[in-house]
Amino acid sequence: MALQLGDTAPDFEADTTEGPIRFHDWIGDSWAVLFSHPRDFTPVCTTELGYMAKIKPEFDKRNTKIIGLSVDPIDNHAKWAADIEETQGTAPNYPMIGDADFSVSKLYGMLPADVEGDPTERTPAQNQTVRNVFVIGPDKKVKLILVYPMTTGRNFDEVLRVIDSLQLTADHKVSTPVNWRQGEDVIIAGSVSDEQAREIFGEWESPKPYIRVVPQPV
Ligand code: BEZ
Repeated sequence: MALQLGDTAPDFEADTTEGPIRFHDWIGDSWAVLFSHPRDFTPVCTTELGYMAKIKPEFDKRNTKIIGLSVDPIDNHAKWAADIEETQGTAPNYPMIGDADFSVSKLYGMLPADVEGDPTERTPAQNQTVRNVFVIGPDKKVKLILVYPMTTGRNFDEVLRVIDSLQLTADHKVSTPVNWRQGEDVIIAGSVSDEQAREIFGEWESPKPYIRVVPQPV
């Protein structure tokens, strides 16, 4: 069955541009973002990798490690990094997994189990399903899965926004409404009775009994 929200993120060992890792140990007590790419030297992915390097400080602020994956050997990742720096202004400043044997892509359900052979002989389009974003919590559970088409660059600002929501709702009994951003009003979680809500939040605005709006807890 495909990986689902709430599942434990499969653990694996892999070579990366920053040395070998065991994934769960690498995550440690942090949050993590794993984002995947079909092949090196692909244009949309080049822009994405440069942008992730630019906004890495935003992930650091959120105690979130980031790691890329591409279905190429890590030697190619090093050459691609030079292109990324030249064209996007920033080289990857986070590890990139070399998934040359397709093992992580298969483990995460991004490629079928029967894919084999030389990864450098596959076209990016053959690996087009390897364009996911996984957000994983310190408990190693999968919190968010995004899958993008190869022709659409990912919105990593949205990933930061979701992490803000996930971290808030991990600590407080609230949910975040449409397009919510840090500092805006939130909704008391449906699992909280009115009696409990009075104890926790005091009062709230209630356009309908099932919509209970309060300021963002700090
Ligand atoms: C890209 O432009 O990054 C891309 C091209 C083909 C397949 C997947 C990604």
